[in-house]
Amino acid sequence: MASLVHLPFQPTERGLGCDGVRIESIVEEIGTPVYVYSAEAIRAAYRRLDAAFAAYPHAIHYALKANSTLALLRLLHALGSRADANSVGEVQVAQRAGFAPRELVFTGVGKGRDELAYAVANEVGTINAESPGELDRIAEIARALGRRARVALRVNPDIDAQSHPNISTGLRVNKFGVAVEEAPAIYRDRLGVADLQFVGVHVHIGSQITTPDPLRRAARALASLARTLRDQGVPLEHVDLGGGLGIAYDGVTMITPDAYAALVIPELEACGIPVVLEPGRAIVGHSGALVSRVVDVKQSPEGRRFAVLDAGMTELMRPALYGSFHRIVPLQPRATAEHAWDIVGPICETSDAFARDRAMRDLAVDDLVAILDTGAYGAVMASNYNRRLLAPEVLVDDGRWTVIRRRQTLDDVLALER
Ligand code: LLP
Repeated sequence: MASLVHLPFQPTERGLGCDGVRIESIVEEIGTPVYVYSAEAIRAAYRRLDAAFAAYPHAIHYALKANSTLALLRLLHALGSRADANSVGEVQVAQRAGFAPRELVFTGVGKGRDELAYAVANEVGTINAESPGELDRIAEIARALGRRARVALRVNPDIDAQSHPNISTGLRVNKFGVAVEEAPAIYRDRLGVADLQFVGVHVHIGSQITTPDPLRRAARALASLARTLRDQGVPLEHVDLGGGLGIAYDGVTMITPDAYAALVIPELEACGIPVVLEPGRAIVGHSGALVSRVVDVKQSPEGRRFAVLDAGMTELMRPALYGSFHRIVPLQPRATAEHAWDIVGPICETSDAFARDRAMRDLAVDDLVAILDTGAYGAVMASNYNRRLLAPEVLVDDGRWTVIRRRQTLDDVLALER
């Protein structure tokens, strides 16, 4: 069980299904575009990672930024997950989903004074500070509120995550954290500050990491720093390894949770301090598909085939932003040969394309397609560009589906305007 990936989107006799529920039956009722998620895929991914780390004291803090729809958060909380919030909005959404503030780590490169005050006043589990200045602001706020803030410092270990440059965060040239060798002095200088309780140390070198070496090196750097800090008298409760574990968008390239644990646990054993993990994508990535309808099909004189969908970069930004690959599968594949297709969105931007020269069976207007592995960084990165309305989200669980977020209406959008 623990070693299986649960891949929810599989062909059935009557078209593509999500855990056996026919996706067309969902579309018939609520239209397209729509995000469809599998509860079972989320449970399986969570349990698999948890089981992989069974041999070492650990806590999984699901990174809300990957997908923070309330129903998914409640599901994860019920499994025992804690949470990683990256803004005060995410802290509050986590609370509304049932997470206690103590179960949260609060990360983020630039936290405003109001955000810090909220976190301190509500006694968030750990605030991961990004600079000495931020630590001092937290101390000042805690003093004013008569609280003692639980903090960790995010360090930058100068490790290339070997992922897309836009989502690699562990290099010196990146804006994240403080240089790892500066950390001991930063902790030492503030150990006597009564308003701060140093409970951890934090690192996060990037996202969608599919090569082992950077993960191992980050764990090694973190464990070594933790030892130094302990020798300095900092009573650390945890080391926070961040998120970043990649998933197999192509169906092949990934590091399994077991392999990840086998890479980092031996490094962590060098300090023996419990580890905090902040996975986002690895928990929800495979659980979701964006289902969309073909609204136009055309062929250029040179023979280029375009299929225009009713979903675009407004629903799923990743291909436009990172050139990222997502499998695209027709709900009812036609019995034709494969041709090279450009699968594009309706927005007036050339970057609004999901695939170029993708070998696919032919498509026709009104066909339905599913863009796979869009459970992470899909719906959360959507926008109202072109006055498009946010797509609804549906959760399939135990053979039934429910709308967990309805489609936005124009009135919802215009309610903010006068
Ligand atoms: N912890 C911190 C401090 C983070 O910044 C992130 C992600 C995570 C945890 C979760 O990382 P994950 O396990 O999901 O890799 N929009 C991009 C991904 C941005 C990730 C930002 N930070 C994408 O669509 O690929």
